[in-house]
Amino acid sequence: MLSLAALALRLRVSGCQGRRRSIATVVSGNRMSKLVRERLQKEVEKMRSQFSGFRPGLLVLQVGDRDDSNLYISSKLKAAAEIGIDARHVRLPNTARQDEVLQNIRSANANVSVHGLIVQLPLDSVNRIDTQLITNAVAPEKDVDGLSCINAGKLSRGDLTDCFLPCTPNGCMELIRQTGVSVAGKHAVVIGRSKIVGAPMHDLLLWNHATVTTCHSWTHDLPLQVGRADILVVGVGRAEMVRGDWLKEGAVVIDCGINQVPDETKASGIRVVGDVHYTSANQSAGFITPVPGGVGPMTVAMLMQNTVQSAQRFLQNQKH
Ligand SMILES: NC(=O)c1ccc[n+]([C@@H]2O[C@H](COP(=O)([O-])OP(=O)(O)OC[C@H]3O[C@@H](n4cnc5c(N)ncnc54)[C@H](OP(=O)(O)O)[C@@H]3O)[C@@H](O)[C@H]2O)c1
Ligand SMILES: *[C@@H]1O[C@H](CO)[C@@H](O)[C@H](O)[C@H]1NC(C)=O
Ligand SMILES: *[C@@H]1O[C@H](CO)[C@@H](O)[C@H](O)[C@H]1NC(C)=O
Repeated sequence: MLSLAALALRLRVSGCQGRRRSIATVVSGNRMSKLVRERLQKEVEKMRSQFSGFRPGLLVLQVGDRDDSNLYISSKLKAAAEIGIDARHVRLPNTARQDEVLQNIRSANANVSVHGLIVQLPLDSVNRIDTQLITNAVAPEKDVDGLSCINAGKLSRGDLTDCFLPCTPNGCMELIRQTGVSVAGKHAVVIGRSKIVGAPMHDLLLWNHATVTTCHSWTHDLPLQVGRADILVVGVGRAEMVRGDWLKEGAVVIDCGINQVPDETKASGIRVVGDVHYTSANQSAGFITPVPGGVGPMTVAMLMQNTVQSAQRFLQNQKH
């Protein structure tokens, strides 16, 4: 619906200008995540009435007290509360040891009221803690961040219906779907290969039948690679690195970046920008996600979706 209207608008505008320059359509994560959250709220209400007061349970385990983590956690808790998910936040001090963190994970794994369990990363501890060990300790059927080896392995092999998809890449896929541009057969380029963004994004695009190029810090001639992208997903963590003149005309540009840059015009003295230079990219992209209000809210919505799905699976297994 949106895509057709948007397309009509673009054709009209470019027709007026009499040249084939695309006018980027902004793909709003704020609007889309709201629709997802409203749908989930209804699903939770249904579960609640069918199973006498049942609520999906989410546990957010935090180690330490990073400001950025606190901010992300509070937006997750707020979204959960609105949907009717019973979310609990457990914060261990930054003096917590690996054993203690593992003990908390084991207890949540065993707790039937917990359907989704996430460990907020990065871990903020004065002690050495093996992050991989921690994410792999989460029971795969409660791993709503999709970061354990089991879920990541299924995704990499293309078993998409049988695992929890990592929230940020899954949110990016939803935003791409929203454009109406089909992924199958397209050339997709991902910048970044981290476990939470780039690598699973590569897998998702691949198994949605794109031809995928994944770029990273060793990639030669990044602008050349970017120029080949019909669909570009960027998760680098470098403010405004991708410039508009790198892009293929009409490309779908999904920007995962969250970077703070100094801005004297703001009361806070800072401004949040993406990994894409927005004001040049929107001159040549066909579709572009804003920062903030793009991938960020979709990530939270996808976490809620995985949690509701996990609770639904739990109820189904109870019946047998
Ligand atoms: N919206 C959300 O909810 C959300 C969620 C998670 C992350 N993010 C944001 O997404 C961004 C990426 O996060 P992340 O956790 O994936 O970061 P990360 O773990 O630091 O990974 C960054 C990736 O970018 C690559 N890279 C770094 N510099 C590069 C360069 N000059 N050219 C090409 N590739 C380069 C790195 O390559 P190597 O592998 O070679 O080092 C790495 O694969 C950050 O801005 C983060 O804040 C947003
Ligand atoms: C199980 O989880 C619920 C909901 O988060 C919590 O209220 C309860 O205390 C937990 N039980 C145990 C034994 O940890
Ligand atoms: C690009 O973004 C800037 C800043 O938001 C805006 O002023 C401009 O109108 C946009 N241009 C196009 C072509 O969408």
